[in-house]
Amino acid sequence: MTADARTVPVGLGARAYDVLIGPGLLDRAGDLIAPHARRRRVAVVADQTVARLHGARLTAALERAGLAAPTIAVPPGEASKSWEGLAALSDQLLALELDRGDLIAAFGGGVVGDLAGFAAAIYKRGIDFVQIPTTLLAQVDSSVGGKTAIDTPRGKNLIGAFHQPRLVLADLDVLATLPDREMRAGYAEIIKYGLLGDFAFFEWLEAEAAAVLAREPGALAHAVARSVEMKAEIVAEDEKEAGRRALLNLGHTFGHALEAEVGFGEALLHGEAVALGCAQAFRFSAAQRLAPRQDAERVERAIAAAGLPARLSDLAAGPFAADRLIAHAGQDKKAEGGALTFVLARRIGEAFTARGVDPAALRDFLLAEGATP
Ligand code: NAD
Ligand code: GLY
Repeated sequence: MTADARTVPVGLGARAYDVLIGPGLLDRAGDLIAPHARRRRVAVVADQTVARLHGARLTAALERAGLAAPTIAVPPGEASKSWEGLAALSDQLLALELDRGDLIAAFGGGVVGDLAGFAAAIYKRGIDFVQIPTTLLAQVDSSVGGKTAIDTPRGKNLIGAFHQPRLVLADLDVLATLPDREMRAGYAEIIKYGLLGDFAFFEWLEAEAAAVLAREPGALAHAVARSVEMKAEIVAEDEKEAGRRALLNLGHTFGHALEAEVGFGEALLHGEAVALGCAQAFRFSAAQRLAPRQDAERVERAIAAAGLPARLSDLAAGPFAADRLIAHAGQDKKAEGGALTFVLARRIGEAFTARGVDPAALRDFLLAEGATP
Protein backbone atom coordinates (compact mmCIF):
# COMPACT_ATOMS: atom_id res chain seq x y z
CA MET A 1 0.00 0.00 0.00
CA THR A 2 1.15 3.56 -0.50
CA ALA A 3 1.65 5.43 2.74
CA ASP A 4 -1.17 7.81 1.79
CA ALA A 5 -3.68 5.19 0.70
CA ARG A 6 -6.61 4.31 2.92
CA THR A 7 -8.09 0.83 2.77
CA VAL A 8 -11.78 0.21 3.31
CA PRO A 9 -12.71 -3.48 3.49
CA VAL A 10 -16.02 -4.69 2.11
CA GLY A 11 -16.87 -7.62 4.40
CA LEU A 12 -18.61 -10.14 2.20
CA GLY A 13 -17.08 -13.42 3.37
CA ALA A 14 -15.66 -15.38 0.44
CA ARG A 15 -16.38 -12.39 -1.80
CA ALA A 16 -14.74 -9.81 0.49
CA TYR A 17 -12.49 -7.20 -1.11
CA ASP A 18 -10.66 -3.98 -0.36
CA VAL A 19 -11.29 -0.49 -1.68
CA LEU A 20 -8.02 1.47 -1.80
CA ILE A 21 -8.34 5.23 -1.82
CA GLY A 22 -5.47 7.63 -2.31
CA PRO A 23 -3.11 9.35 -4.71
CA GLY A 24 -0.65 7.49 -6.93
CA LEU A 25 -2.57 4.21 -7.09
CA LEU A 26 -2.52 4.03 -10.90
CA ASP A 27 1.26 3.75 -10.87
CA ARG A 28 1.03 0.92 -8.34
CA ALA A 29 -1.83 -0.86 -10.09
CA GLY A 30 0.38 -3.68 -11.40
CA ASP A 31 1.62 -4.79 -7.99
CA LEU A 32 -1.82 -4.36 -6.45
CA ILE A 33 -3.68 -6.25 -9.18
CA ALA A 34 -1.12 -9.00 -9.90
CA PRO A 35 -2.22 -11.24 -6.97
CA HIS A 36 -5.70 -11.41 -8.57
CA ALA A 37 -4.50 -12.30 -12.10
CA ARG A 38 -3.67 -16.00 -12.04
CA ARG A 39 -2.76 -16.10 -15.75
CA ARG A 40 -1.01 -12.74 -15.60
CA ARG A 41 -3.33 -11.17 -18.13
CA VAL A 42 -5.68 -8.26 -17.56
CA ALA A 43 -8.11 -7.01 -20.21
CA VAL A 44 -8.48 -3.30 -19.53
CA VAL A 45 -11.97 -2.12 -20.52
CA ALA A 46 -11.48 1.62 -20.66
CA ASP A 47 -13.63 4.65 -21.34
CA GLN A 48 -12.06 6.15 -24.50
CA THR A 49 -11.53 9.56 -22.87
CA VAL A 50 -9.96 7.99 -19.80
CA ALA A 51 -7.75 5.77 -21.95
CA ARG A 52 -6.48 8.85 -23.78
CA LEU A 53 -5.79 10.77 -20.56
CA HIS A 54 -4.54 8.05 -18.22
CA GLY A 55 -4.28 4.77 -20.16
CA ALA A 56 -0.54 4.84 -20.79
CA ARG A 57 0.19 5.10 -17.06
CA LEU A 58 -2.07 2.19 -16.21
CA THR A 59 -0.72 -0.03 -19.00
CA ALA A 60 2.88 0.76 -18.03
CA ALA A 61 2.17 -0.08 -14.38
CA LEU A 62 0.55 -3.40 -15.31
CA GLU A 63 3.37 -4.31 -17.67
CA ARG A 64 6.02 -3.43 -15.07
CA ALA A 65 4.42 -6.07 -12.87
CA GLY A 66 4.69 -8.62 -15.70
CA LEU A 67 1.02 -8.50 -16.67
CA ALA A 68 -0.13 -8.47 -20.30
CA ALA A 69 -2.67 -5.64 -20.58
CA PRO A 70 -4.63 -5.48 -23.84
CA THR A 71 -7.01 -2.50 -23.83
CA ILE A 72 -10.56 -2.38 -25.16
CA ALA A 73 -11.76 1.21 -25.53
CA VAL A 74 -15.44 1.94 -25.00
CA PRO A 75 -17.05 5.14 -26.36
CA PRO A 76 -17.92 7.53 -23.53
CA GLY A 77 -21.57 8.02 -22.68
CA GLU A 78 -24.60 6.15 -21.37
CA ALA A 79 -25.29 4.67 -24.85
CA SER A 80 -22.40 2.23 -24.31
CA LYS A 81 -24.34 0.65 -21.43
CA SER A 82 -26.64 -1.14 -23.88
CA TRP A 83 -27.27 -4.53 -25.49
CA GLU A 84 -25.21 -3.31 -28.46
CA GLY A 85 -22.37 -2.15 -26.22
CA LEU A 86 -22.44 -5.43 -24.32
CA ALA A 87 -22.41 -7.48 -27.53
CA ALA A 88 -19.46 -5.52 -28.92
CA LEU A 89 -17.50 -5.82 -25.67
CA SER A 90 -18.23 -9.54 -25.26
CA ASP A 91 -17.05 -10.16 -28.80
CA GLN A 92 -13.80 -8.29 -28.16
CA LEU A 93 -13.22 -10.27 -24.95
CA LEU A 94 -13.81 -13.53 -26.86
CA ALA A 95 -11.42 -12.38 -29.59
CA LEU A 96 -8.75 -11.94 -26.90
CA GLU A 97 -9.45 -15.56 -25.90
CA LEU A 98 -9.82 -14.42 -22.33
CA ASP A 99 -10.54 -17.26 -19.94
CA ARG A 100 -11.52 -17.70 -16.32
CA GLY A 101 -7.93 -17.38 -15.05
CA ASP A 102 -7.73 -13.92 -16.59
CA LEU A 103 -9.05 -10.69 -15.20
CA ILE A 104 -11.05 -7.72 -16.48
CA ALA A 105 -10.22 -4.22 -15.24
CA ALA A 106 -12.98 -1.60 -15.59
CA PHE A 107 -11.22 1.73 -16.09
CA GLY A 108 -13.59 4.70 -16.24
CA GLY A 109 -16.73 6.06 -14.65
CA GLY A 110 -19.95 4.31 -13.77
CA VAL A 111 -20.80 3.58 -17.39
CA VAL A 112 -17.70 1.49 -17.97
CA GLY A 113 -17.85 0.02 -14.47
CA ASP A 114 -21.44 -1.16 -14.92
CA LEU A 115 -20.86 -2.44 -18.46
CA ALA A 116 -17.53 -4.20 -17.86
CA GLY A 117 -18.80 -5.54 -14.54
CA PHE A 118 -21.86 -7.06 -16.20
CA ALA A 119 -19.73 -8.48 -19.03
CA ALA A 120 -17.49 -10.03 -16.35
CA ALA A 121 -20.55 -11.49 -14.59
CA ILE A 122 -21.71 -13.37 -17.69
CA TYR A 123 -18.52 -13.94 -19.71
CA LYS A 124 -17.98 -17.71 -19.72
CA ARG A 125 -20.43 -17.80 -16.78
CA GLY A 126 -18.35 -15.39 -14.74
CA ILE A 127 -14.82 -14.05 -14.63
CA ASP A 128 -13.10 -11.96 -11.96
CA PHE A 129 -12.83 -8.22 -12.37
CA VAL A 130 -11.37 -5.19 -10.65
CA GLN A 131 -12.70 -1.66 -10.64
CA ILE A 132 -10.48 1.35 -11.31
CA PRO A 133 -13.05 4.16 -11.03
CA THR A 134 -12.09 7.51 -12.52
CA THR A 135 -15.09 9.74 -11.74
CA LEU A 136 -15.97 10.94 -8.26
CA LEU A 137 -19.37 9.28 -8.61
CA ALA A 138 -17.82 5.95 -9.50
CA GLN A 139 -15.29 6.19 -6.65
CA VAL A 140 -17.90 6.84 -3.97
CA ASP A 141 -20.75 4.77 -5.33
CA SER A 142 -20.87 2.67 -8.48
CA SER A 143 -17.54 0.84 -8.17
CA VAL A 144 -18.42 -0.50 -4.73
CA GLY A 145 -21.17 -3.01 -3.98
CA GLY A 146 -21.31 -5.24 -7.03
CA LYS A 147 -24.33 -3.83 -8.89
CA THR A 148 -23.65 -4.18 -12.62
CA ALA A 149 -26.09 -3.51 -15.42
CA ILE A 150 -26.98 -2.25 -18.86
CA ASP A 151 -29.92 -0.10 -19.94
CA THR A 152 -32.65 -1.12 -22.38
CA PRO A 153 -35.08 1.08 -24.30
CA ARG A 154 -37.58 0.28 -21.51
CA GLY A 155 -35.43 1.74 -18.76
CA LYS A 156 -32.11 2.12 -17.01
CA ASN A 157 -30.19 -0.66 -15.31
CA LEU A 158 -33.00 -3.17 -15.93
CA ILE A 159 -30.75 -6.01 -17.08
CA GLY A 160 -27.87 -6.79 -14.76
CA ALA A 161 -26.31 -8.92 -12.07
CA PHE A 162 -24.72 -8.66 -8.68
CA HIS A 163 -21.04 -9.37 -9.31
CA GLN A 164 -18.56 -8.12 -6.74
CA PRO A 165 -15.13 -6.92 -7.88
CA ARG A 166 -11.96 -8.45 -6.42
CA LEU A 167 -10.43 -5.05 -5.71
CA VAL A 168 -11.25 -1.38 -6.17
CA LEU A 169 -8.50 1.19 -6.79
CA ALA A 170 -9.78 4.74 -6.36
CA ASP A 171 -6.86 6.91 -7.42
CA LEU A 172 -7.67 10.49 -6.38
CA ASP A 173 -5.09 11.92 -8.81
CA VAL A 174 -7.14 10.94 -11.87
CA LEU A 175 -9.90 13.30 -10.72
CA ALA A 176 -7.61 16.22 -11.72
CA THR A 177 -8.85 15.86 -15.31
CA LEU A 178 -12.52 15.33 -14.45
CA PRO A 179 -14.72 18.26 -15.61
CA ASP A 180 -16.06 20.38 -12.74
CA ARG A 181 -19.65 19.53 -13.62
CA GLU A 182 -18.87 15.81 -13.22
CA MET A 183 -17.16 16.57 -9.87
CA ARG A 184 -20.32 18.26 -8.64
CA ALA A 185 -22.45 15.34 -9.86
CA GLY A 186 -20.27 12.93 -7.86
CA TYR A 187 -20.46 15.24 -4.86
CA ALA A 188 -24.24 14.78 -4.85
CA GLU A 189 -23.76 11.11 -3.99
CA ILE A 190 -21.37 12.14 -1.19
CA ILE A 191 -23.92 14.50 0.39
CA LYS A 192 -26.41 11.64 0.09
CA TYR A 193 -24.39 9.54 2.55
CA GLY A 194 -24.47 12.29 5.16
CA LEU A 195 -28.18 12.80 4.63
CA LEU A 196 -29.10 9.16 4.88
CA GLY A 197 -27.03 8.13 7.86
CA ASP A 198 -24.33 10.44 9.24
CA PHE A 199 -25.26 13.90 10.50
CA ALA A 200 -21.66 14.68 11.57
CA PHE A 201 -20.45 13.91 8.04
CA PHE A 202 -23.15 16.20 6.62
CA GLU A 203 -21.99 19.01 8.95
CA TRP A 204 -18.39 18.42 7.87
CA LEU A 205 -19.48 18.62 4.22
CA GLU A 206 -21.30 21.90 4.84
CA ALA A 207 -17.96 23.35 5.92
CA GLU A 208 -15.71 21.59 3.41
CA ALA A 209 -17.76 21.41 0.19
CA ALA A 210 -15.59 23.95 -1.60
CA ALA A 211 -12.39 22.14 -0.59
CA VAL A 212 -13.74 18.80 -1.80
CA LEU A 213 -14.89 20.27 -5.11
CA ALA A 214 -11.52 22.02 -5.52
CA ARG A 215 -9.90 18.58 -5.07
CA GLU A 216 -7.97 19.67 -1.97
CA PRO A 217 -6.20 16.35 -1.21
CA GLY A 218 -7.05 15.96 2.48
CA ALA A 219 -10.68 16.97 2.11
CA LEU A 220 -11.17 14.86 -1.01
CA ALA A 221 -9.61 11.79 0.60
CA HIS A 222 -11.83 12.11 3.67
CA ALA A 223 -14.99 12.65 1.62
CA VAL A 224 -14.33 9.63 -0.59
CA ALA A 225 -13.19 7.38 2.26
CA ARG A 226 -16.16 8.20 4.53
CA SER A 227 -18.58 7.64 1.65
CA VAL A 228 -17.01 4.30 0.78
CA GLU A 229 -16.98 3.26 4.45
CA MET A 230 -20.71 3.92 4.68
CA LYS A 231 -21.46 2.09 1.46
CA ALA A 232 -19.24 -0.85 2.42
CA GLU A 233 -20.94 -1.17 5.79
CA ILE A 234 -24.42 -1.17 4.25
CA VAL A 235 -23.49 -3.56 1.43
CA ALA A 236 -21.85 -5.99 3.87
CA GLU A 237 -25.10 -6.09 5.84
CA ASP A 238 -27.48 -6.27 2.86
CA GLU A 239 -25.70 -7.25 -0.34
CA LYS A 240 -28.79 -7.92 -2.48
CA GLU A 241 -30.93 -5.00 -1.27
CA ALA A 242 -33.40 -6.98 0.79
CA GLY A 243 -33.65 -4.11 3.28
CA ARG A 244 -31.18 -1.48 4.44
CA ARG A 245 -29.32 -1.11 1.13
CA ALA A 246 -32.44 0.56 -0.26
CA LEU A 247 -31.48 3.63 1.82
CA LEU A 248 -28.73 4.24 -0.74
CA ASN A 249 -31.56 5.13 -3.09
CA LEU A 250 -32.29 8.38 -1.21
CA GLY A 251 -33.09 10.98 -3.85
CA HIS A 252 -33.17 8.35 -6.60
CA THR A 253 -36.91 7.84 -7.11
CA PHE A 254 -37.55 11.57 -7.54
CA GLY A 255 -34.27 11.80 -9.46
CA HIS A 256 -34.96 8.92 -11.84
CA ALA A 257 -38.38 10.34 -12.64
CA LEU A 258 -36.74 13.59 -13.75
CA GLU A 259 -34.01 11.75 -15.69
CA ALA A 260 -36.66 9.71 -17.46
CA GLU A 261 -38.50 12.90 -18.43
CA VAL A 262 -35.41 14.80 -19.57
CA GLY A 263 -33.74 11.78 -21.22
CA PHE A 264 -30.77 10.06 -19.59
CA GLY A 265 -27.55 11.83 -20.53
CA GLU A 266 -25.88 15.21 -20.73
CA ALA A 267 -28.97 17.38 -20.23
CA LEU A 268 -29.32 16.19 -16.64
CA LEU A 269 -26.48 14.16 -15.13
CA HIS A 270 -27.41 11.34 -12.77
CA GLY A 271 -25.77 13.10 -9.81
CA GLU A 272 -27.61 16.33 -10.57
CA ALA A 273 -30.90 14.44 -10.59
CA VAL A 274 -29.96 12.76 -7.28
CA ALA A 275 -29.15 16.15 -5.71
CA LEU A 276 -32.53 17.56 -6.65
CA GLY A 277 -34.15 14.27 -5.64
CA CYS A 278 -32.57 14.49 -2.16
CA ALA A 279 -33.83 18.05 -1.73
CA GLN A 280 -37.30 16.91 -2.80
CA ALA A 281 -37.22 13.87 -0.52
CA PHE A 282 -36.54 16.16 2.45
CA ARG A 283 -39.16 18.71 1.42
CA PHE A 284 -41.70 15.93 0.89
CA SER A 285 -40.78 14.47 4.30
CA ALA A 286 -41.30 17.91 5.85
CA ALA A 287 -44.62 18.35 4.01
CA GLN A 288 -45.73 15.01 5.46
CA ARG A 289 -44.63 16.21 8.93
CA LEU A 290 -42.11 13.40 9.11
CA ALA A 291 -39.06 15.67 9.27
CA PRO A 292 -38.46 19.24 10.52
CA ARG A 293 -38.89 21.93 7.88
CA GLN A 294 -35.60 23.50 9.01
CA ASP A 295 -33.80 20.29 8.00
CA ALA A 296 -35.31 20.43 4.52
CA GLU A 297 -34.20 24.06 4.20
CA ARG A 298 -30.71 23.21 5.41
CA VAL A 299 -30.42 20.36 2.90
CA GLU A 300 -31.53 22.68 0.10
CA ARG A 301 -28.90 25.28 1.10
CA ALA A 302 -26.11 22.66 1.16
CA ILE A 303 -27.07 21.32 -2.27
CA ALA A 304 -27.38 24.78 -3.82
CA ALA A 305 -24.06 25.86 -2.25
CA ALA A 306 -22.35 23.02 -4.13
CA GLY A 307 -23.71 24.38 -7.41
CA LEU A 308 -26.25 21.57 -7.74
CA PRO A 309 -29.96 21.89 -8.56
CA ALA A 310 -32.23 21.87 -5.51
CA ARG A 311 -35.50 23.01 -7.12
CA LEU A 312 -37.34 22.10 -10.34
CA SER A 313 -36.93 25.74 -11.37
CA ASP A 314 -33.13 25.24 -11.31
CA LEU A 315 -33.44 22.96 -14.35
CA ALA A 316 -33.41 24.37 -17.85
CA ALA A 317 -35.70 21.53 -18.95
CA GLY A 318 -39.32 21.62 -17.92
CA PRO A 319 -42.03 22.31 -17.06
CA PHE A 320 -42.61 18.87 -15.59
CA ALA A 321 -46.06 17.29 -15.40
CA ALA A 322 -46.80 15.94 -11.91
CA ASP A 323 -48.74 12.94 -13.25
CA ARG A 324 -45.88 11.90 -15.52
CA LEU A 325 -43.39 12.13 -12.65
CA ILE A 326 -45.69 10.03 -10.48
CA ALA A 327 -46.05 7.46 -13.28
CA HIS A 328 -42.25 7.20 -13.53
CA ALA A 329 -41.99 6.82 -9.75
CA GLY A 330 -44.47 3.92 -9.92
CA GLN A 331 -42.38 2.19 -12.59
CA ASP A 332 -39.11 2.61 -10.70
CA LYS A 333 -37.60 -0.79 -10.07
CA LYS A 334 -37.43 0.06 -6.38
CA ALA A 335 -41.23 0.15 -6.43
CA GLU A 336 -42.94 -3.04 -5.33
CA GLY A 337 -46.06 -4.23 -7.11
CA GLY A 338 -46.72 -0.75 -8.46
CA ALA A 339 -46.97 0.77 -4.94
CA LEU A 340 -45.07 4.01 -4.49
CA THR A 341 -41.94 3.49 -2.43
CA PHE A 342 -39.67 6.35 -1.48
CA VAL A 343 -36.70 6.81 0.80
CA LEU A 344 -37.79 9.60 3.13
CA ALA A 345 -36.20 11.15 6.21
CA ARG A 346 -36.93 11.78 9.87
CA ARG A 347 -34.08 14.26 10.09
CA ILE A 348 -30.68 14.87 8.47
CA GLY A 349 -28.73 11.66 9.02
CA GLU A 350 -31.78 9.42 9.42
CA ALA A 351 -33.49 8.08 6.31
CA PHE A 352 -36.04 5.30 6.10
CA THR A 353 -37.96 3.43 3.41
CA ALA A 354 -41.58 4.56 3.14
CA ARG A 355 -43.89 2.09 1.39
CA GLY A 356 -47.38 2.84 0.14
CA VAL A 357 -46.81 6.58 -0.31
CA ASP A 358 -50.14 8.26 -1.10
CA PRO A 359 -50.14 9.35 -4.78
CA ALA A 360 -52.56 12.21 -3.99
CA ALA A 361 -50.17 13.61 -1.35
CA LEU A 362 -47.31 13.23 -3.79
CA ARG A 363 -49.28 15.03 -6.49
CA ASP A 364 -50.08 17.95 -4.16
CA PHE A 365 -46.43 18.13 -3.23
CA LEU A 366 -45.23 18.15 -6.84
CA LEU A 367 -47.74 20.86 -7.77
CA ALA A 368 -46.46 22.94 -4.85
CA GLU A 369 -42.94 22.31 -6.17
CA GLY A 370 -43.91 23.94 -9.48
CA ALA A 371 -44.86 20.88 -11.54
CA THR A 372 -47.81 21.29 -13.89
CA PRO A 373 -51.03 19.24 -13.48
P1 NAD B 1 -19.63 8.26 -16.88
O1 NAD B 1 -19.06 6.93 -16.69
O2 NAD B 1 -20.51 8.50 -18.06
O3 NAD B 1 -18.47 9.34 -16.87
C1 NAD B 1 -18.78 10.71 -17.01
C2 NAD B 1 -17.91 11.40 -18.03
O4 NAD B 1 -16.62 11.62 -17.46
C3 NAD B 1 -17.67 10.61 -19.31
O5 NAD B 1 -17.75 11.51 -20.38
C4 NAD B 1 -16.23 10.10 -19.17
O6 NAD B 1 -15.61 9.97 -20.42
C5 NAD B 1 -15.61 11.19 -18.35
N1 NAD B 1 -14.49 10.80 -17.49
C6 NAD B 1 -14.42 9.75 -16.65
N2 NAD B 1 -13.32 9.82 -15.90
C7 NAD B 1 -12.66 10.92 -16.27
C8 NAD B 1 -11.47 11.54 -15.84
N3 NAD B 1 -10.75 11.06 -14.81
N4 NAD B 1 -11.07 12.67 -16.48
C9 NAD B 1 -11.83 13.20 -17.48
N5 NAD B 1 -12.97 12.69 -17.90
C10 NAD B 1 -13.39 11.55 -17.29
O7 NAD B 1 -20.53 8.71 -15.63
P2 NAD B 1 -20.53 8.41 -14.07
O8 NAD B 1 -21.23 9.55 -13.46
O9 NAD B 1 -19.22 8.00 -13.57
O10 NAD B 1 -21.46 7.11 -13.97
C11 NAD B 1 -22.82 7.16 -14.32
C12 NAD B 1 -23.31 5.74 -14.48
O11 NAD B 1 -23.12 5.05 -13.26
C13 NAD B 1 -24.77 5.63 -14.82
O12 NAD B 1 -24.94 4.72 -15.88
C14 NAD B 1 -25.40 5.07 -13.55
O13 NAD B 1 -26.52 4.26 -13.81
C15 NAD B 1 -24.27 4.26 -12.99
N6 NAD B 1 -24.33 4.04 -11.54
C16 NAD B 1 -24.18 2.77 -11.10
C17 NAD B 1 -24.19 2.52 -9.73
C18 NAD B 1 -23.95 1.12 -9.23
O14 NAD B 1 -24.13 0.89 -8.03
N7 NAD B 1 -23.54 0.21 -10.07
C19 NAD B 1 -24.37 3.56 -8.82
C20 NAD B 1 -24.51 4.86 -9.32
C21 NAD B 1 -24.50 5.09 -10.68
N1 GLY C 1 -26.24 2.94 -5.87
C1 GLY C 1 -27.10 2.20 -5.02
C2 GLY C 1 -26.57 0.89 -4.59
O1 GLY C 1 -25.45 0.54 -4.91
O2 GLY C 1 -27.25 0.15 -3.96
